[in-house]
Amino acid sequence: MPAHEPRLWTIDTPNTSYVVAVDEHDRLRGLHWGPRLSPEQALALLDLPESPFRPVIGREPRFDLGAASSFQYGHNGLQVRFSDGTRDLELAFTEAIEGDGDLTFVFTDRHYPLEVRTRYRSHPGSDVIERTLALRNTGTEPIEVVRADSASWVVPGLDTPRLSQLHGEWGAETQLTRTTIPYGETVIGSRRGVTSHQANPWVAIDDGEATETSGPVWSTALAWSGTWRITVEKGPTGSVVVSAGFGHDPIAIRLGGGETLETPIAAGLHTEGGFASAAGAWHEYALAHVLPHPEEVRPVLYNSWEATEFDFTAEDQMRLAERAAAMGCELFVMDDGWFGARVNDRAGLGDWTPNPDRFPDGLGPLIKHVHGCGMRFGIWVEPEMVNPDSDLYRAHPDWVYHQPHRRRSEVRQQLVLNLARPDVADYIHARLDELLSRNEIDFVKWDMNRPFTEAGWPGSDDPDRLWFDHTRNLYAILDRLRADHPNLRIESCSSGGGRVDFGILRRTDQVWTSDNTDAVDRIAIQDGFAQVYPARVMGAWVTDSPNPLTRREVPLDFRFHVAMAGVLAVGGDLRIWSDEDQARGAELVADYKRIRPAVQLGRRRPLRAGAVTGVQYDRGDQTVVLVWRRSRAFAYPDPLLKLQGLDLDARYRDERTGRVHHGAILAAHGLELGLDPADYASAMIELTRLP
Ligand code: DGJ
Repeated sequence: MPAHEPRLWTIDTPNTSYVVAVDEHDRLRGLHWGPRLSPEQALALLDLPESPFRPVIGREPRFDLGAASSFQYGHNGLQVRFSDGTRDLELAFTEAIEGDGDLTFVFTDRHYPLEVRTRYRSHPGSDVIERTLALRNTGTEPIEVVRADSASWVVPGLDTPRLSQLHGEWGAETQLTRTTIPYGETVIGSRRGVTSHQANPWVAIDDGEATETSGPVWSTALAWSGTWRITVEKGPTGSVVVSAGFGHDPIAIRLGGGETLETPIAAGLHTEGGFASAAGAWHEYALAHVLPHPEEVRPVLYNSWEATEFDFTAEDQMRLAERAAAMGCELFVMDDGWFGARVNDRAGLGDWTPNPDRFPDGLGPLIKHVHGCGMRFGIWVEPEMVNPDSDLYRAHPDWVYHQPHRRRSEVRQQLVLNLARPDVADYIHARLDELLSRNEIDFVKWDMNRPFTEAGWPGSDDPDRLWFDHTRNLYAILDRLRADHPNLRIESCSSGGGRVDFGILRRTDQVWTSDNTDAVDRIAIQDGFAQVYPARVMGAWVTDSPNPLTRREVPLDFRFHVAMAGVLAVGGDLRIWSDEDQARGAELVADYKRIRPAVQLGRRRPLRAGAVTGVQYDRGDQTVVLVWRRSRAFAYPDPLLKLQGLDLDARYRDERTGRVHHGAILAAHGLELGLDPADYASAMIELTRLP
C-alpha cells in the first residue's frame, strides 16, 4: 500500500485496487474501486474530474468516510451528538498507519474529544477488503453516536446502476432480486435484534448488464448478527455510494469518556466475470478467512425435528438414530423438546436440564447409544429465550427485555432474555458450559426463534446499548464455549435462516438455511444463499413427502439431489420410510460422500438449459453436476447442458457411463443429461478430468 504525494493511498488485492485520497478539507474520498492499478496509474486518477483537487461544479464529492458536517447533504455514515448538542463534525487528518495488508486513517475532531479510525484490511489471495470504524471518546463527557457505519464504498460511475439484494421471510429466505437503483437513498436492514429473514446484510451493484458469467460487480457484506442497515445512495448525477453498519433508526450508542466503539467488519469485493465470479470470491473468502474450521467437511447429519416435533421418548430417539446410522448419517441431532417441562412450546424454555420423564437417567444413555451407532451426538438449544412458564422466568422475571407500563408481547409463548446484561450472559454461559461439560456433546444447534419487542432495560442508564451488547455477548459466549470445548461444532439457526451472516459464521460451523425443506422451493432459497455464502455452511435436509410445510409431493432422488448441493442432511421420519426408500437413501448418502469435497470446498457455478437448472462444483480433477427439472413443456426434449470453467484441452470421464467427453465439446455444446422424461427428474453427474 504505497503512499503517494499528494495524500493518496492504494489498497491492492490480487486483482483489484481501492484508491482513496484525503482532500484539502481533510475529507476521505473514494477515487477508484476496480481493476488493479500501478502506483503511476493511481496517481493519474488525480487528473480526472472526480479528483478532489479538481472540483467541478455540479459533481458531488463521494466520501469514503461520510461524516456529518457542513455542506454534506448526502447520506453520512458517521453521525454523533456531543454533550453540548453540537452535531457537526470537523475532522482533521492526523495520520495514516500502514501495516502488512492493513491501512488505518486516523482523524481527530478539531474541537471535541473524538478520535476516528477507519481501517482497511486485505488478505493474501483474496480480493475482499475488510473495513471497520473505531471511535474513541478521549474526553470525559459522553458522546452520543447516532450512526457509525463500518464503511462507505464509493462505486465508480455506472450508466444504469442495478442493485441485487436478498429479501424474504420465514420459510422463504434469501430470495434474490435485481432492480434498477432509484435516485436517493435505498435502505435495507433489520430492526428485529437478529440478522433477519426479511433481508440479508449483503448487496451487489452492477451496471445493469452483468450476467452470471460476464461483467463487473461490486458487492458488500456486513459481518453482524444484530440490527443493521445498508444504505445505497444514488446521487443526483447517478454516482452510487453504499454504506453499511450496525444499529437501526432511532437507536443511538452512548460513548462514555475514555471508551472506544469498534464496529463490525463490512467487507467489500470488486470482481469481473459476472455474478457467479463474485459469489465464488465470497465463498473463497469465507473458507479462507471467516470460518473457524474451513479445512473440515461437514458430516451428513440427521435431525429429529420434523420426525417427532415435541412428541418423543428417549427410545424414539434411539430408534431414529439406528435408522439414521444405517443410512450413513454421521451426526445425530436431537432437536427441541428434551429439557425442562418442554413437551410442547408452552413451557420449559430456559431450563436446560433433561426432562425427567423422558430422560430419567439423564442424556447419558442416549448419547452412548448414538456414539455406539458410530455417529456424533448433537443437541438443540435456544439459550437467548425463556417461556414465562419456566423455572428461570419465575426466578428472574426482570431478565427479559421489557419496558415499564408496557405489555410483554409473546411470540410462540416466549420472551427474549436480556443477554446484554452481564449477569444474564454469565448465567447462560454457565448453563451451557455445564451441559457440555457433563455430557459428551459434539454439536450444538443454537436456535433463536423470535424477534425483539418492547426492547427495554429498566434500570439501565443507557438502555439502547442492548441492541449492540446482546450480539456482542452472544459472540462472547460462543467464543468462550468454542475455546473451552475445542471439539464442539455449532450450527446457527433462527427459525431457519434468520441469522446468516459473516459475523455468526466466524464462530459457527454451518447454518440452518430455512425451515422450508420443500426441494422445489429450496432451489431458489439455495441459489440466493449461494450469492454470498458457501455450500460448506448451507444445511439442507431431505424430509418426508408430501412436504410437511408445502404438501408438495417430490420423489426421493429429487429431494436428495437438491439437498446434495449443500451440507446434506436427513430430517424425515425414518420410522415410517419404506425399506426401499431407506436403501435408496443410503445409496444417495454414499454418493454424496464421494462428491462432498467438491461441493463443500470447491468452486460453484450455476447452470441452466431450458427447464433444467443445476449447479456445477469443481475441485481439482473432479467436476460434479447436480441438475433438477420440475417439468417439461410440450414433451420437448431437455437441451444439452453446457458446462463452465472446464479445461478446454482436457477430456473428462463421466463416472456414470464411463464415456469420455472433450472439455471443449462440453463447454461449447454441452452434456447430454439423459434425464427421466417424467416430472421431477434429477441427476448427479461426476466427471473426472483425465491426465
Ligand atoms: C426452529 C428451527 O428452525 C427448527 O428447525 C426447529 O429447531 C424448531 N425451531 C424447534 O423449536
